Amino acid sequence: MDKITIIGAGNVGAHAAVSAATLELGHIILLDKDADLAKGKAIDITQSMAVSHSDIVVTGTGDYQDTADSDVVIITAGIPRKPGMSRDDLLDINADILTSIVKQVVQYSPECILIIVTNPITTMVQLAYEVSGFSRERVIGMAGILDGARFKRFIAEELKVGSSEVMTMVIGDHGELMVPLKDHCHVNGQPIAELLSHEQIEAIVVKVQHGGSQIVNLLKTGSAYFAPGLAVIQMVKSILRNEQKTLPCAVYLDGEYSTKGLFVGVPVVLGRQGVEKIVEIHLSEKEALAFKNSVRHIKERTEALLHKKLGS
Ligand code: NAI
Ligand code: 2OP
Repeated sequence: MDKITIIGAGNVGAHAAVSAATLELGHIILLDKDADLAKGKAIDITQSMAVSHSDIVVTGTGDYQDTADSDVVIITAGIPRKPGMSRDDLLDINADILTSIVKQVVQYSPECILIIVTNPITTMVQLAYEVSGFSRERVIGMAGILDGARFKRFIAEELKVGSSEVMTMVIGDHGELMVPLKDHCHVNGQPIAELLSHEQIEAIVVKVQHGGSQIVNLLKTGSAYFAPGLAVIQMVKSILRNEQKTLPCAVYLDGEYSTKGLFVGVPVVLGRQGVEKIVEIHLSEKEALAFKNSVRHIKERTEALLHKKLGS
C-alpha cells in the first residue's frame, strides 16, 4: 500500500487527508507540530472512513519517524493569510517553517515525491527544491488546479452552464499576477471569446486573480481549504495511480517557456516518477507578455529569499 504523509494538520492538511482517504489512495500520516491536533483529526477521519465501510487508516503524529519511507509527502504547514495580507506577506515565517520540515522529511523519506502547498507557493517550492537536493521531477507546487477551478466556476456562473463543460488553464504565479489563459479557454469546444464580451472576460480574469482574497475576506480567520485540499490530492492521485494527467503545477523550468532555473506554474504530466513531462503550449502575444511579467515577479521574490535564507 502506498504511504502518503501530510505535514500540517490545519485546514488544508486535514481536507487533503479526507480527500486522500475517500479516494483510498493509501495509508495516510498526518503530522503537525501540535501532535494532539493531528491525532484528534486522524482519529475522526479514520472513523468517518468506517462510516463508509472503508478500511483506510489515517495516523496522527508529531514524530517524523512515523513518516519514514513515504511515497508522497505533502507540506501544508505554515501560516495562512488574514484579511489585508498578501501571500507574499507570509514569506519569511513560512520559509523558516518549510526549511526545517523539508530537512526532516528528506531524512526519513529520501525517495519521496514532495508536493508543496505552503504560500507563497512558487517561492516556497523552490526553497524546498534547494533544501531537499531532490531532482526537479520530485518537487512540485500546487496552485494552478485551484486557480483553474475558480476560473471554471466564474465562467460557468456567467454562462449558466456546468463547470465540467468549461476547460481552463492558469499559469505563472499564484497571486494577482497569475495568468488565466483566456485565449485557451473553451466551453464545449467553443472559445469563450465567442460566448462572452471582452469586458465580461476581463472581469472574470480579475475575479480569478482575486479568488483567494474573496474567501479570506469572508472567512476573516484564514484562507480557502476545501478546494485546495482536494486539488493537491488530484496531483497525488495522478502520481500514485500513474494516471499521466496534464495538470497545471509549479515546477522547475530549465529552458521551457524561455525560463531557466525557476519554479513557475505551467501544465505538466504527472505520473509515478513525478513530473514526467512539461507541456509547452503556444501562448498568444498577450498571454506571453502576462506570463513574462508573472515570471519576473516570481524571480525577484525567490532570488531575494534564497539570498537571505541560503546565501545563494
Ligand atoms: P492552518 O493554519 O489551518 O494550518 C497550518 C498548520 O501548520 C497548523 O495546524 C500548524 O500547527 C501547522 N504547523 C505550523 N508550523 C509547523 C511546523 N513547523 N511543523 C508542523 N506543522 C506546523 O493553515 P491552512 O489554511 O491549512 O494553510 C496552510 C498553508 O497553505 C498556508 O501557507 C496557506 O497560505 C497555504 N495555502 C496554499 C494554497 C495554494 O494554492 N498553494 C491554497 C490554500 C492554502
Ligand atoms: C488561495 O488562493 C490561500 O492561496 C490560497 O485561496
